[in-house]
Amino acid sequence: MDRFSALRVFSEDGKVAGRVVELGVDDLAPGGVVLRTAFSSVNYKDALAATGAGKIIRRFPLVGGIDAAGTVVSSTDARFKAGDEVICTSYDMGVAHDGGYAGMCRVPADWVVPLPAGLSLYEAMALGTAGYTAGLAVELLEQNGLAPANGRVLVNGATGGVSSLAIDMLARAGYQVVALTGKDQEADYLRGIGAAEVISRKTLEMGTRPLEKPLWAAAFDSVGGEQLAWLTRTMQPGGLIASYGNAGGIELNTTVLPFILRGVRLIGVDSAFTPMALRRKVWGRLATDLKPRHLQTIARTVGLAELPEVFGQVLKAGVRGRIVVKP
Ligand SMILES: NC(=O)c1ccc[n+]([C@@H]2O[C@H](COP(=O)([O-])OP(=O)(O)OC[C@H]3O[C@@H](n4cnc5c(N)ncnc54)[C@H](OP(=O)(O)O)[C@@H]3O)[C@@H](O)[C@H]2O)c1
Repeated sequence: MDRFSALRVFSEDGKVAGRVVELGVDDLAPGGVVLRTAFSSVNYKDALAATGAGKIIRRFPLVGGIDAAGTVVSSTDARFKAGDEVICTSYDMGVAHDGGYAGMCRVPADWVVPLPAGLSLYEAMALGTAGYTAGLAVELLEQNGLAPANGRVLVNGATGGVSSLAIDMLARAGYQVVALTGKDQEADYLRGIGAAEVISRKTLEMGTRPLEKPLWAAAFDSVGGEQLAWLTRTMQPGGLIASYGNAGGIELNTTVLPFILRGVRLIGVDSAFTPMALRRKVWGRLATDLKPRHLQTIARTVGLAELPEVFGQVLKAGVRGRIVVKP
């Protein structure tokens, strides 16, 4: 079997760090499906994992990368055969199972999603877990009645991976999107991918009352903490909040008043262990009605050697959009 490069994360002398090494398939965690990885991607969780900034990895050394897309080389499972193009994201990838930052990847067949018609392997990883999470959030809010006529939709952490893709998807679907960002210099980028309005985190007046002026029909929250508390206070009656991130903190200090007086619903979004039927449905939508129109603007590509530097930038909120990895 061929040798290939991989970004393997080690825990040595109390420090967690990744470096590029050469591996063979037999070095990888076991699984029924072996694929040649075409692309992987960088998510916030990957940066936390590979630097030790978050206690994500449960087994060292481990190939990083919670996402992979590629072509099946061999499969012991009848659902997949050599030549199939597939996606594998989340589950234990890059956490307790060797992930996508390697030329080859070996995974349990139950984690594998066939690449839907309408997406290339590159596009699948420009989306990756970030795009899947944004699509899942749209799907879950629509199941709860979200529609463009309900009113404006706030997306925070707007230049981030999940949020950039959510903005693009929502704008395509006809929603009026308001982007909230800490990067004022990226206002043109945000308008370019579909935001109707851009507001600045630096000048945002959050107020302190349990209920503030109702502003949003829906909100997509990648930040948590104070911003999520502010969102609960500023939702319109019947407003829907998708909570999927904690880039700004894990606390949530609010009251029950938005829930009992305005019927606000806080909807949790977990991309890691979505049941397969819903997972396939969302990937199908990502290839069709939710397919972002500005993936070329949102994503750029790096190699394995550049990853340690990229992780540092991600943790400092210094990255815009998505980063695709070509291993
Ligand atoms: N629930 C799930 O299944 C799931 C899946 C994927 C990701 N996530 C989570 O979603 C969040 C976003 O992930 P991502 O991959 O899109 O990350 P990302 O690309 O690094 O984006 C995060 C964005 O949040 C904003 N931000 C960063 N630090 C902040 C702070 N201290 N206060 C307020 N805003 C801050 C920044 O946007 P601006 O500069 O534009 O404000 C930043 O670009 C992360 O918490 C991640 O763990 C969850």
